[in-house]
Amino acid sequence: MTAEPLERTLDHDGHLGEPAGFQGSRSPSLRAARESDLPELRRLDEEVFQEVAYPAFLLRQLYDMYAEHLLVLDEGEGRLRGYVLAATTALNRDSWILGLCVTMSRRRHGLGRELMTEVLARLRQDGIEQVRLTVEPANHPAILLYRSLGFRPEPPDDGIRPDYFGPGQDRQIMHLRLSPDH
Ligand SMILES: CC(C)(COP(=O)(O)OP(=O)(O)OC[C@H]1O[C@@H](n2cnc3c(N)ncnc32)[C@H](O)[C@@H]1OP(=O)(O)O)[C@@H](O)C(=O)NCCC(=O)NCCS
Repeated sequence: MTAEPLERTLDHDGHLGEPAGFQGSRSPSLRAARESDLPELRRLDEEVFQEVAYPAFLLRQLYDMYAEHLLVLDEGEGRLRGYVLAATTALNRDSWILGLCVTMSRRRHGLGRELMTEVLARLRQDGIEQVRLTVEPANHPAILLYRSLGFRPEPPDDGIRPDYFGPGQDRQIMHLRLSPDH
């Protein structure tokens, strides 16, 4: 699906304008997360990431710190079908994508791209210049998505960091430079 224009505006409730392909009452809408989303966000995170899902206390505090870069896909009445979370550093205009997922039954409909495109637009508007993320080296769907958005492996060694999250948990680090006018 074609990426939406980056400057879609928010209404007063923090909802984004309806992107192409989201028409219909059952299509999830992309909006900023709210405090009341936290239980459902945790359910979704556990559904997708299982044993590596965020503990409740950490998810809570990530929300406390990074709510403006925590976006969710709401299918109605607070039922969440995806989210993206970016953390920013105050001093050097860097950020990390800490979480991205779309529920299994909703994949391959452009939703992951929508989440990423919107959070990158927000980061750019906020003056962030570099975005990094980690991904399992075998997670080809995610890597293809990130590559299509301009992310590239961070040298050296093609971004591969053995045991990054502990023994046997290798990760690839990818990065993207954001230019203010792009
Ligand atoms: C990665 C993920 C968020 C993608 O969400 P999605 O809504 O299915 O992705 P989209 O439909 O927006 O696809 C965007 C692009 O990603 C790539 N892609 C996504 N799923 C793919 C698959 N199964 N096979 C190949 N490419 C795939 C394609 O390049 C696609 O572009 P295209 O449709 O023009 O070919 C989703 O698969 C997911 O939640 N996975 C589990 C959690 C996860 O791995 N998160 C990332 C951790 S780093």
